[in-house]
Parts: sequence; structure tokens; C-alpha cells
Amino acid sequence: MKTEPAPRFAWGITGSGHYLKESLAICMTLPGVDLFLSKAGEEILRMYGYKLEDLKARMRIFRDSTASAAPVGLFYHGNYHTVIIGPASSNTVAKCALGISDSLITNIFAQAGKCGLPSIVFACDTEPEVTTESPSEWVTLNPRRIDLQHTETLKTFENVQVVSSVEALQQAITDRVTCLNISSS
Ligand SMILES: Cc1cc2nc3c(=O)[nH]c(=O)nc-3n(C[C@H](O)[C@H](O)[C@H](O)COP(=O)(O)O)c2cc1C
Repeated sequence: MKTEPAPRFAWGITGSGHYLKESLAICMTLPGVDLFLSKAGEEILRMYGYKLEDLKARMRIFRDSTASAAPVGLFYHGNYHTVIIGPASSNTVAKCALGISDSLITNIFAQAGKCGLPSIVFACDTEPEVTTESPSEWVTLNPRRIDLQHTETLKTFENVQVVSSVEALQQAITDRVTCLNISSS
């Protein structure tokens, strides 16, 4: 008899450089995780010095290479128990808040909602001023009112936890791991 693999975390990486390093560091500690990359996420990883081959050696990776986001079919076979999007670009947060699913990451978010799975979104634009590390230097930017509004809208979604710091992301994941009764290392 064929046994189904144990459900895993589906972790989405977008084209946000803000807290990319910290998010990936947490991702690496998880017991069972598959990585989903937006097209921009794939580019950003390279810009920040990550090699796809190195990541592939550690976990299964799905790239955004089909218009229909074909890998989301896995959500209907019980492969995942939780979606994490971290870091989430303001673009992806906006699309998710508006119910748009036209990329791999916005699709895993939408499918999680439709399958009743919890999602944790590490949003980047949560404060009027954000200081962030670009590939070459530190820069300060001011998210627009619309960016902050989309983050607030996302907080109202059922089964969605929006976090805005590395510590809050870690805590949300620890809580989820405890709830699922799985080991975190
Ligand atoms: C070096 C670099 C860093 C970026 N960092 C951010 C960021 O921290 N937050 C953000 O919202 N967008 C950032 N962007 C822009 C996104 O990559 C861009 O909006 C992209 O279209 C997002 O696509 P996605 O949401 O499908 O991943 C960055 C772009 C570059 C080139």
C-alpha cells in the first residue's frame, strides 16, 4: 500500500530583500519544508548571494515557471499543513490582500485559504519608515499609504497571521510547530 508523505511547510520567497537572510535562516531550521519562489524571488536570491543549487541540495524547490502555478495541485493531496510567505514583498502583499492569484506565491496563498490551511505572512511594509539592506548598502525607504493599507487588510483575513518582525515570525512558527506536535530541528 502506498503511504502518503507527511504534510510539510510550504515556504514562499518573494522578491523582497528586506529580511531575506533572516527568513531563510529560520526556514533552514524547519523539519519538513518545500520552497516556492516567485520569479523576482529567484532573482533576489541570486543578487543576495544565494545559489539555487545549494538550496536545492537542502530542500525541494518549486520555481514560478507555469502560468497556472501547477505545483499548487499538491495542496489538494494533503502535502502541506502551513503556508509561510517570508519575506513578502509589498507587491505580493497587495495581490494577496486583493484576492489576486497570478503568480506561484499568490497562488499558494490563495490555495491555502481555499483548503482551510493557516498562513503566516512576514510583510515588509509595516512601518512608515523601513531601513533595509540592499545587495550593496543599507537604504531607508518610506512605504506608501497604500502599502500599509494592504498589510492591514491582510490582517483581517481568516486563517492568516501577518507578522512584522523576525522575532514575531519565529514565534508564529514555534507556535505552529507546537500545535502540530512536530520537532523543529
Ligand atoms: C535588490 C532588490 C531588493 C528589493 N527589495 C524589496 C523589498 O524589500 N520589498 C519589496 O516590497 N520589494 C522589493 N524589491 C522589489 C520587488 O522585487 C518587485 O516589486 C517584484 O516585482 C516583486 O515580485 P513578487 O512579489 O512576485 O516577488 C526589491 C528589488 C530589488 C532589485
